[in-house]
Amino acid sequence: MLHGDVGTELGRRVVAALRTALDVAITPAEALIRPSTRDGVDYQCNVAMSLGKKLGRAPRDVARDIVAHLDSADLIEDAEIAGPGFINVVLRREWLQQQATALLGDDRLGVAEAERPRRFAIDYGSPNVAKEMHVGHLRSSIIGDALVRLLRFEGHEVVPHNHLGDWGTPFGMLIEHLIDEGWTTGSEHTIGDLNGFYQEARKKFDADPDFAGRSRQRVVLLQGGDEHTLALWQQLVDESTRHFEKVYGLLGVGLTRDDIYGESFYNPRLPNVIDELEAKGLTEVSDGAVCVFPPGFTNREGERLPLIVRKRDGGYGYAATDLATARYWTRERGATDLLYVVGTPQAQHFAMIFAVCSKAGWLTDEHHAEHIGFGSILGTDGKTIRTRAGGSIKLVDLLTEAIDRAATVVAERSELTADQRAALARAVGVGAIKYADLSGDREKDYLFDWDRMLAMDGNTAVYLQYANTRILSMLRKAGEEPAAGTPVHLTEPAERELVLKLLQLPAAVASATEVYAPHKLCTYLYETATAFSGFYERCPVLAASTPDEIRRSRLVLAKLTSNVLTLGLSLLGIDAPERL
Ligand code: ARG
Repeated sequence: MLHGDVGTELGRRVVAALRTALDVAITPAEALIRPSTRDGVDYQCNVAMSLGKKLGRAPRDVARDIVAHLDSADLIEDAEIAGPGFINVVLRREWLQQQATALLGDDRLGVAEAERPRRFAIDYGSPNVAKEMHVGHLRSSIIGDALVRLLRFEGHEVVPHNHLGDWGTPFGMLIEHLIDEGWTTGSEHTIGDLNGFYQEARKKFDADPDFAGRSRQRVVLLQGGDEHTLALWQQLVDESTRHFEKVYGLLGVGLTRDDIYGESFYNPRLPNVIDELEAKGLTEVSDGAVCVFPPGFTNREGERLPLIVRKRDGGYGYAATDLATARYWTRERGATDLLYVVGTPQAQHFAMIFAVCSKAGWLTDEHHAEHIGFGSILGTDGKTIRTRAGGSIKLVDLLTEAIDRAATVVAERSELTADQRAALARAVGVGAIKYADLSGDREKDYLFDWDRMLAMDGNTAVYLQYANTRILSMLRKAGEEPAAGTPVHLTEPAERELVLKLLQLPAAVASATEVYAPHKLCTYLYETATAFSGFYERCPVLAASTPDEIRRSRLVLAKLTSNVLTLGLSLLGIDAPERL
């Protein structure tokens, strides 16, 4: 059976044909093979158009040469030239049947493992201590988690790291405030309202000079490593971490305590980073601050933009920590690929970090660093979502509301226990939020719309979850699980269409990971569910009039569809319940 994508396999054949016919060398991807939308055509090859131009020949002639030399054995039924030089490909029915038959025994459903696995270090989540997580952290957690799952499934090694904002001057005032609140280092404390705590500290800092003075003194103690101060700081970090863990748990995001590599982790490494930059002659002192000016970055006035690595007052900032982070993961942890799932407003920051790291030799040609940016979440009014009172929305409240709303969707299931219904509501509610986030191009803003994300039809999680449960219920009714090796017979166009879709999972996974775009997998899953409903409408499965052999074959297609939907959803971090 084919491991990988049908389009790539066709591409390989076109590559071979071009080599013999015209002595032209291209890659399978350059063969421009695309699934066709025309009736009766499976794939289209568009390479003759661009090649014709390059070779100074009529594209139709190039297409003719390709077709004449195409090795069609086993795979291709017909290759026909259309229009100005497209090649329309029809696959052999026997081949499709064989592939579908073999698919049922394959738990990777045709997806090949990476030939050259890489080691990814992926920065995602990254909330700030003593602050409630907001919707930006929601997006980072959801997208990052899906990428971890996808890349691991492809066979890469993936190390998540949660770049917790847990260091810097605000901690002076936060620690002083918690001392005022009577915190001691002996016992565990909780903060009901993390945002409130931060705001109170801020208010006191602005209004009370004595408090402000103590806070500044506290920063010095913290940075000097004073034991008592560090212990209080640790309490604050722990309390926040418990809060983050609760949200990750609710979301089903894989981040744990062990994945935390906060800003404080890099703090002891900062002097070395600056020393190395200085030794390499990359720094300049500007206005008393130590800066690096990466080439090519200027402001509107054409002035060079600095990356400030050490401030005038001797303190280190956000940029210094990110330089240390990249250096740590490539040098000390052997990462080949660095991904940062952070909102698009930080695009320039990361571009500058990467440029400096390249200059410093911390990122080489062997490495790949990429900022995985994402847009904002907007309310239905097109503005950043807020609570009715106008405040920023707390993540926990949002998730709770999603689950509550989903509960009304599963409320009719009276045969279920309360626990089962709660689990379902969670799968549907959290799935709705995750899928709404993942199913659009991540770089764009997206509209947060409860009705749309919980709709039973359309490109939503619950639509896919429901399609899957309908298939499972049909299989239960059939009273038999299709066994691996049960032959698939394709008699109707709708069956053929479904099989073509099922065989495109490898292509969908590859296109999603290639540019870190989970929405490509979502689109594919939606198309698969749609192809299934077309099949289900036209091809009776359990009807008495369906011959045995055909019924079994159709049950295989149903089971495969369920396997594809379940695996696909799991790669997005979304549950596929057995009943809904
Ligand atoms: N804590 C930051 C924030 O809330 C995001 C950190 C992103 N990661 C990084 N390596 N800079 O905006």
